[in-house]
Amino acid sequence: MVGLELSQQITLHQLKVFEAAARHCSFTRAAEELFLTQPTISMQIKQLTQAVGLPLFEQVGKRLFLTDAGRQLYVTCKDIFDRLSLLEMGIADMKGMKRGRLRLAAITTTKYVVPRLLGPFCQRYPGIDISFKVTNHEGVLERMAENLDDLYIISQRPDNPEINSYLFIENPLVVLAPHGHPLSNEKQISLERIAEEPFIMREPGSGTRQAIQQLFDKNNIPIKIRLEIGSNEAIKQAIASGLGISVLSIHSLALEGVISQFTILDVVDFPISRNWYVIYPAGKQLSIIANTFFEYLQTEGRQLADVAGLLNQLIGQPDKTPHP
Ligand code: PGA
Repeated sequence: MVGLELSQQITLHQLKVFEAAARHCSFTRAAEELFLTQPTISMQIKQLTQAVGLPLFEQVGKRLFLTDAGRQLYVTCKDIFDRLSLLEMGIADMKGMKRGRLRLAAITTTKYVVPRLLGPFCQRYPGIDISFKVTNHEGVLERMAENLDDLYIISQRPDNPEINSYLFIENPLVVLAPHGHPLSNEKQISLERIAEEPFIMREPGSGTRQAIQQLFDKNNIPIKIRLEIGSNEAIKQAIASGLGISVLSIHSLALEGVISQFTILDVVDFPISRNWYVIYPAGKQLSIIANTFFEYLQTEGRQLADVAGLLNQLIGQPDKTPHP
């Protein structure tokens, strides 16, 4: 083999196996994903390691890590597979079809809206598969730093001119209390008064949490966090069962129909005005599919803005919803 270039020694199949193993940091999970046996994965990686001439993985305790050479190979692999998939989409487009995969990563609150957009999009373009990763603000930024997806939806635009962004829809944050809460009919409740209530807070890394913390910090008011929960849905359950109050995106009420179990408190400085942005790194070449979705969001997304307007009507009208 000595003297042969790497491209003559390695195969795309080996790279595919390596990419999956590196992404999961696990041969077992790569084997599951690729429907191969673990000895096959080990063999392919062994051959690839021999061709590269340096170890690609190292085992520390029970965990597998990439070596420096492995990390470089991983970046190269992702690049090769991204380009191949761009080529595939381009060819399908030349044949008059939209075919390929759209990879989206979005903050948790979008899960109430984005799936409703994806339905008609998938019907219009049946050849497009979608992966929709829902995580918190920090998680989305981490995915973008690793270039894992095509488009990202986030509330707080990173302060970076190297990012393209499009304001997609409003995302106001409101103070939510259980139905019949003693403050439900009060007007212009102060932040100090709210801070006396037991507060249910999202986990560190959440954009919702950051926004709440910023507002209270700006006013030098400490919040009494009674409970920390990493899920909007679980927070709603906790509010409904009387554990405390919280601040959530108004979209998290979208699926409630009438917000019978909750009341939106009329608090000074609320709703916190936020927006969802679709963003991607400025240097990134968007695939035809990602572009198609981006354009679709700009048209259908605007229609959804009306939904936000409707939801906005709920603000400041505590306990006007039918009681359960
Ligand atoms: P979160 O995102 O899921 O990180 O709280 C919501 C937001 O940033 O508005």
